[in-house]
Amino acid sequence: RSARDVRPGPVPVSVVAHRGSSRDAPEHTLSAYRRAVEDGADAVECDVRMTADGHLVCVHDRRVNRTSNGRGAVSALELADLAALDFGSWRKWKHRAESPEWYGTADPERDPELTSVLTLERLLEFVVDAGRRVEVAIETKRPSRWAGGQVERRIQSLLGRFGLLVPPPDAPPQVRVMSFSARSLDRVHLMMPQVPTVYLMQFLSPRLRDGRLPAGAHIAGPSIRLVRNNPEYVARAHAAGHAVHVWTVDSASDVDVCVRLGVEAVITNRPRHVIAHLGR
Ligand code: G3P
Ligand code: CA
Repeated sequence: RSARDVRPGPVPVSVVAHRGSSRDAPEHTLSAYRRAVEDGADAVECDVRMTADGHLVCVHDRRVNRTSNGRGAVSALELADLAALDFGSWRKWKHRAESPEWYGTADPERDPELTSVLTLERLLEFVVDAGRRVEVAIETKRPSRWAGGQVERRIQSLLGRFGLLVPPPDAPPQVRVMSFSARSLDRVHLMMPQVPTVYLMQFLSPRLRDGRLPAGAHIAGPSIRLVRNNPEYVARAHAAGHAVHVWTVDSASDVDVCVRLGVEAVITNRPRHVIAHLGR
């Protein structure tokens, strides 16, 4: 099988938990991913950045300031520095009222791993042991910061270790790589030809209007705003042979738009809510 086998549907829309179930638990922590599996998500999304000592960690921002009790750029910190930080408590103060149950099931005092920095390695281990099929969408964040494809090579090595580089016969690929960087996706395509790639787009540039994607990209990854402003784009991407995965789809009306247009996946902070709305 090749990555090209991820063709446009007719298949039920896949629900992807964005940074885990990040509306209900601190984003990118193991608790958010556990929650996503409990919520019934088909897949989980994670952003990855490389630390100063070459580890891939699941952190969205360039700096750790927003989502931890530390300060500084991920690329300037070592894994041991990040491991000393608390990536969960910021949610306690911001969202406790919204999600009072979170502290009942994921008490960081009982299980510190639930609020510590999550490495891509640990996330893949968790997914492989999840007890059911869960797909993973890994987003490379600013991979050009590291010369020579270091981020992509590290992903390749981890996927190889967990047996995720090549899907089993007759099964669709379990892992895909997403990026706003076409260069990163082209690298992934050349290095890991059986891993599908998703080209993320915030706005529709003129050269992409016809639905075609840059070299090495298999799946279109438009924002919901792009889709709402250009609903004809989905049919064009399908006609060009690309499935469409839309982010970030949190409201019922956005889900309805995506279903009506026949997109293959919605990436959401609220998988439980979206799955209920879909009637699954
Ligand atoms: O799933 C794609 C989406 O995550 C891209 O935006 O900023 O949330 O990483 P961002
Ligand atoms: Ca992301």
